[in-house]
Amino acid sequence: MIRIFTPADMDRILEIEAQAFPKSPYSRRIFMNLYRSNPTTFLVYEEGEILGYLVYTPEGYIISIAVDPRHRRKGIGTQLVREVFRNSTGEFMWVEVRETNAGAQVFYEKLGFRKKGVIPRYYWTEDAYIMVR
Ligand SMILES: CC(C)(COP(=O)(O)OP(=O)(O)OC[C@H]1O[C@@H](n2cnc3c(N)ncnc32)[C@H](O)[C@@H]1OP(=O)(O)O)[C@@H](O)C(=O)NCCC(=O)NCCS
Repeated sequence: MIRIFTPADMDRILEIEAQAFPKSPYSRRIFMNLYRSNPTTFLVYEEGEILGYLVYTPEGYIISIAVDPRHRRKGIGTQLVREVFRNSTGEFMWVEVRETNAGAQVFYEKLGFRKKGVIPRYYWTEDAYIMVR
């Protein structure tokens, strides 16, 4: 089931975040700020427990997505991004991806996103691709 995040989900989101982005996880404070700015577009995927999350802006900018490593390659990420397809209001959807994150690049390409530009040193030591659909 995909539903809107509530603050009671926070501890589990932080667990998934720590596994997905061990070098630069978002903090509790960052997630609370994201929730305040995007209260209806911060989603969790739940099947017994929370297995993934996605936060995006209503216009279609994907801020962050992560799936529990034990449950990847089962279509959960795809189901979450399809919610953006269904609900975003803008003409484009876009996301920044680390140049070294080849898995995520393939994931977005399969969903119809294409690399449209590079932001040099977006992650300080690493460039970002902007991928647009
Ligand atoms: C990127 C991520 C969200 C994908 O979630 P997921 O639930 O595993 O994705 P799906 O199962 O829906 O994958 C759909 C397709 O994308 C492609 N794909 C997904 N992960 C991939 C990987 N690591 N390597 C290559 N292709 C991949 C595959 O084609 C896959 O289809 P297949 O399994 O039938 O081959 C997940 O790997 C993750 O949490 N990564 C760490 C956090 C991250 O990098 N987030 C994105 C930052 S911009």
